[in-house]
Amino acid sequence: MIPLLLLLCKTGMLMALLTSTDRTVTVSKNLTEQVKTNDTYCGEKCNVKCHLQNQNLDVLPTCLPKTIEDLNLNFNNITVIGIQDVVYLPKLRILSLSYNQIREIHWRIHVLPELESLDLSHNLLSVVPKCLMLKNLRKLSLAENPILLIQPFAFSCFPNLVFLNLSSTLIGFNSFDDIQESAFALNSTQAQEGSLKTLELLDLSGTYIRCVKRSWSKDLSNLRELHIRKMIRMNVLEDELIAWFPHLERLNCADSKSLVKIRTEIFQNASNLVYLDFRNCSIKYFSPWKISSQSLTIDLRGNPLLCQCELDWLVSKNTNLSLTR
Ligand SMILES: *[C@@H]1O[C@H](CO)[C@@H](O)[C@H](O)[C@H]1NC(C)=O
Ligand SMILES: *[C@@H]1O[C@H](CO)[C@@H](O)[C@H](O)[C@H]1NC(C)=O
Ligand SMILES: *[C@@H]1O[C@H](CO)[C@@H](O)[C@H](O)[C@H]1NC(C)=O
Ligand SMILES: *[C@@H]1O[C@H](CO)[C@@H](O)[C@H](O)[C@H]1NC(C)=O
Ligand SMILES: *[C@@H]1O[C@H](CO)[C@@H](O)[C@H](O)[C@H]1NC(C)=O
Ligand SMILES: *[C@@H]1O[C@H](CO)[C@@H](O)[C@H](O)[C@H]1NC(C)=O
Ligand SMILES: *[C@@H]1O[C@H](CO)[C@@H](O)[C@H](O)[C@H]1NC(C)=O
Ligand SMILES: *[C@@H]1O[C@H](CO)[C@@H](O)[C@H](O)[C@H]1NC(C)=O
Repeated sequence: MIPLLLLLCKTGMLMALLTSTDRTVTVSKNLTEQVKTNDTYCGEKCNVKCHLQNQNLDVLPTCLPKTIEDLNLNFNNITVIGIQDVVYLPKLRILSLSYNQIREIHWRIHVLPELESLDLSHNLLSVVPKCLMLKNLRKLSLAENPILLIQPFAFSCFPNLVFLNLSSTLIGFNSFDDIQESAFALNSTQAQEGSLKTLELLDLSGTYIRCVKRSWSKDLSNLRELHIRKMIRMNVLEDELIAWFPHLERLNCADSKSLVKIRTEIFQNASNLVYLDFRNCSIKYFSPWKISSQSLTIDLRGNPLLCQCELDWLVSKNTNLSLTR
């Protein structure tokens, strides 16, 4: 009967915690309704690392020890993550909830102070989840969720993100709305920085956005890596792309069939650029520009390039350039 006792005790404490800090959250757990978990999840095998994939879980196990640092619950049937699920996991650094049915996350009090990586890919979220400050979060994946737009200040509670994956979401599906102005700005009442200056990698592959816009890219001034693969509606790269992302090192545009013309001169000032991936696009011409980086790899395989001689400049002039075609 230890698990039930523990649960009772936990719920009681939680009630107290909630009523004192946030009245909008109510936690009710029917204790007679046996949660689909038991001792087998919480024994010695789940001390620090706990991998519980494919267990048919529809809630987080309630008996997890406080010592857990790495919790993997991929491939289950979890629909909601509440405060009560995570409030007793103070050491958790890595939380993977990929391939569940999560529609809602309610974290309106401070939880998971040590969380560094949160994988919510392949779920049913329709907006970027709201929470209170997760200051240590570096890596967030929301890939493969039915998110239609990114609202202003959406990432305010993740002010130190380095890696953000928004691939295969429905952003831009309704053509009047995609990534809104100040989407990557941080709410100044909550964060110290004004924008997501820590972000180094953004993956927007397989989304419906038509172009990179200044209204949101201005807030990602330290971006190193942009993934816009398999773009459905994007057919040009903006002239100011490098002005907006002056530290860009890698641009991945592979499999974007709608990408027909690249005005290569836009890369002229990109002195940090090391890798351009244009595999399987629809590029016919690729004209010369004055390359300012020390070494650059351009992958043009799988494009219907028309005039091979146009590419001679690439091969001859710069010894550090490697071209794959
Ligand atoms: C709690 O769950 C049990 C079993 O599912 C059910 O019979 C009972 O009515 C529930 N009680 C409340 C207060 O919801
Ligand atoms: C505990 O859960 C596992 C996995 O669902 C199950 O196989 C086992 O029979 C359960 N044990 C008890 C005592 O309920
Ligand atoms: C999730 O639940 C559905 C029905 O509610 C079931 O068909 C499916 O097998 C479950 N999947 C997992 C991974 O437990
Ligand atoms: C983003 O997530 C998708 C789907 O999980 C994955 O295939 C892709 O590799 C991720 N992007 C990066 C840059 O890791
Ligand atoms: C900024 O955060 C405060 C406190 O959480 C909130 O009241 C306010 O609505 C937020 N502003 C915006 C623009 O999100
Ligand atoms: C490159 O930088 C120079 C000097 O800052 C600027 O005048 C020029 O417009 C830039 N070129 C491109 C293609 O952005
Ligand atoms: C490009 O297309 C070829 C043939 O369809 C495929 O084998 C290859 O994996 C694709 N490359 C990328 C980067 O998707
Ligand atoms: C090639 O790379 C080396 C080392 O990165 C560098 O010293 C050299 O200047 C580069 N050459 C050219 C032509 O850019």
